[in-house]
Formats: sequence, C-alpha cells, structure tokens
Amino acid sequence: MMGTLFVSLVSCLIATSQASLIDRCDLARVLYKEDLDGFEGYSLADWPCLAFVESKFNISKVNENADGSFDYGIFQINSHYWCNDYRSHSEDICHEDCQDLLSPNLLSIISCTKKIVSGAGGMKNW
Ligand SMILES: *[C@@H]1O[C@H](CO)[C@@H](O)[C@H](O)[C@H]1NC(C)=O
Repeated sequence: MMGTLFVSLVSCLIATSQASLIDRCDLARVLYKEDLDGFEGYSLADWPCLAFVESKFNISKVNENADGSFDYGIFQINSHYWCNDYRSHSEDICHEDCQDLLSPNLLSIISCTKKIVSGAGGMKNW
C-alpha cells in the first residue's frame, strides 16, 4: 500500500520535472512551422543546437546573471535587452513579458528570437 503510493508519487514528481523539457524533434517541428528554416540565412538545425547549449531543451529555464538581469526560456533570452521582467531595468525590445517567453507553445519566444536574429550580429547575439 505505502509502496504503491510512493511509486505513484515519485513518477508524478518525475513527470512534473520533465514537463519543462521539449523533445528536440517536437521543437524542430514548431520552429519549422514558424518559418525559422532559412530565416535570416540560418538553417533549421542551428536552432535545436542553440536550445541545447542554452537550456538543454528546458523551456522553463530561468537563470540569474551577475549583473542582476535574467535569462529566460529555451533560448535564454536576456531581460536587460529583450523582455520586461518588472524587476530589473529592461530595454524590452521584443515588447514581451519575460514570463511569456516560458510558454510551452513557444510562440512568444519564437517571435522574440526572430527579432533578435534579425538585428545586427544575427545569431552572434547569443
Ligand atoms: C528547468 O528549469 C527550471 C527553472 O530554471 C528548473 O526549476 C527545472 O528543474 C528545470 N527542469 C529540468 C528538467 O532541468
């Protein structure tokens, strides 16, 4: 009885912590659908690589930087320049609430990503 409860509790916890991870093929599908294949000269394959390096495919990853700004989501977009987190100064160039960049549907983060990669430096902004 206790054993069963324990097992289902543990599998529940595992399911919760993995909910933030996106499968790289699912990610590629969304990126393709949102026209990132060839966008600004970058191939579709560049984006899962960036997601791996930045977040290990964790769409809810938030990381605090030494300067007090935060990096958000699968591509670790920085609050100092790109999104507003209402707790540190931000240029908010993407006009996005940083929390929206953590959405599992990825639409806000993809739209902000397109804005970043369209600017001077392209993918070197990461
Ligand atoms: C994803 O990131 C969040 C926030 O940084 C963290 O709490 C969570 O444990 C991470 N998930 C995995 C599976 O690493």
